[in-house]
Amino acid sequence: MTSPLVEANGLGRRYQQAGEAVVALSSATLRIWPGQRIALVGRSGSGKSTLLHLLAGLDQPSDGSLTWPTLGPVESLLPEKIALVFQAPSLLDSLSVAENVALPLLMAGRAKDCADRVTFALNTFGLLSLADKLPQTLSGGQMQRVAMARAIVGEPQLILADEPTGQLDQVSGHALIDALLRHLAGSECALLIATHDPVIAWRMETQWQMEHGRLSGCERSGGSR
Ligand SMILES: Nc1ncnc2c1ncn2[C@@H]1O[C@H](COP(=O)(O)OP(=O)(O)OP(=O)(O)O)[C@@H](O)[C@H]1O
Ligand SMILES: [Mg+2]
Repeated sequence: MTSPLVEANGLGRRYQQAGEAVVALSSATLRIWPGQRIALVGRSGSGKSTLLHLLAGLDQPSDGSLTWPTLGPVESLLPEKIALVFQAPSLLDSLSVAENVALPLLMAGRAKDCADRVTFALNTFGLLSLADKLPQTLSGGQMQRVAMARAIVGEPQLILADEPTGQLDQVSGHALIDALLRHLAGSECALLIATHDPVIAWRMETQWQMEHGRLSGCERSGGSR
């Protein structure tokens, strides 16, 4: 029987805002399985980024349990096993596009793979001609494509993408997701993508909804796969 990549039970996250507790995530119970394609939808402020940051091991829950049964301890997750595409710009200004994309490989001690893998990742998202550019010379949409290339370069087992098409017009956004899904076709890499775009959401096999920190749609992922 396959084990889940991520398992969460009763997961919650509270923040303090001006002395008041804000419940950003409440009692989320979920599993993510190899090869799953999941859309996470919900209004602004509903808790999508909060959940993704927890699942990436970047943040710690206030309540509940969170484990990565097939991936191992939390310190080993990023950036090799889990790739996180941040909602906010996250490229390093002083590095070229190609150097930014190479970072996960360098951090994982895979320097010898760099040249081939970086060329492949750039090509997957139509970025070869921008390889030597610095991030500040790129458009917001180009930066998001670079962040996506950086996410796939190390062949992670789970990609968590936080509104990766938020800076793109709809046609370009759909083209980016097409390229990602083509790349992942037949792969055991799982994808969880937060999006406000219903067309992108329905391209995923599973839709999770977030409303005021309450997650639904993930009930069927509770059993074994
Ligand atoms: N670091 C923080 N400190 C305090 N409150 C926070 C923090 N991060 C998020 N929040 C609050 O938690 C709630 C959920 O925020 P979150 O960013 O997860 O929403 P979201 O669904 O990703 O929204 P969007 O679609 O706008 O990106 C909001 O009320 C937000 O104000
Ligand atoms: Mg968000």
